[in-house]
Amino acid sequence: MEILDGKKISNQIKEEIAAEVAQMKERGEKVPHLAAVIVGNDGASLTYVGSKVRSCERVGFESTMVRLPNTTSEQELLKKIHELNVDPNIDGFIVQLPLPPQIDTQRVLMAVDPDKDVDGFHPMNFGKMALDMSTFIPATPFGILELLDRYQVETQGKHTVVIGRSHIVGRPMSILMGRKSFPGNSTVTLTHSRTKNISQITTQADIIISALGVPGFLKAEMVKDDVVIIDVGITRVPDESRERGYYITGDVDFENVSKKASYITPVPGGVGPMTIAMLLKNTLLARERHRNR
Ligand code: GUN
Repeated sequence: MEILDGKKISNQIKEEIAAEVAQMKERGEKVPHLAAVIVGNDGASLTYVGSKVRSCERVGFESTMVRLPNTTSEQELLKKIHELNVDPNIDGFIVQLPLPPQIDTQRVLMAVDPDKDVDGFHPMNFGKMALDMSTFIPATPFGILELLDRYQVETQGKHTVVIGRSHIVGRPMSILMGRKSFPGNSTVTLTHSRTKNISQITTQADIIISALGVPGFLKAEMVKDDVVIIDVGITRVPDESRERGYYITGDVDFENVSKKASYITPVPGGVGPMTIAMLLKNTLLARERHRNR
């Protein structure tokens, strides 16, 4: 069994990006600038956005965090998005999800300029992704592809089972793994909360990508020997004995499933750090596109 070490690979990617930024600075060019909008005080979202902004600093990007109160109206958020769309200093930006209930998420995501949509959530970019056109690939799926690529995990002709159909992970992942490329070229089954007899499907899988958010969901008896496991779950479980008051766990019973797996991502330290690295990569790409326009 080999660990797919997202922490290590994400650090390599950040070093590669930092080297490119250093060259941009030497040439006297503007460095990439990422903005992140967060509405409300959700603890997990604040942690993620904080990490995204710190990672920007580490690679030499400029970053802006836009914090709006939980009571922000849809109109106010759309106005802020318009400002970011037209600000020539900003190369790319994200609106951290989830948004408070008074705001229509689809309307917000459609308001983002597709050329600055480094999350790849705008329907135009999502459509381009599905049609194999060059675009921003959502950061978590992009990070999973990069992990499979850097560890040279064989995907061609394999049966990939995706668990969860979210717009951020499951749905794009199911499209990307079936694309005619590497990583890809696999036969994909997309499973979700209404799937019957899921064990019957997961035991046929060569690769399982679980993005459900249910701690310990995937058990050893649900997988076959030599399976490749990608655990996208990041759930905070309350635990008074820890300083932070919680611990982070994935969808997979790591202790037992890892004994059968050929490759497996840990939680934390697997997919999570890759998401941030690929957001930086998309921001670098956005800067290059703006320069070449
Ligand atoms: N919430 C959970 N994951 C993500 C992500 O990748 N991007 C944004 N914007 N919000 C998220």
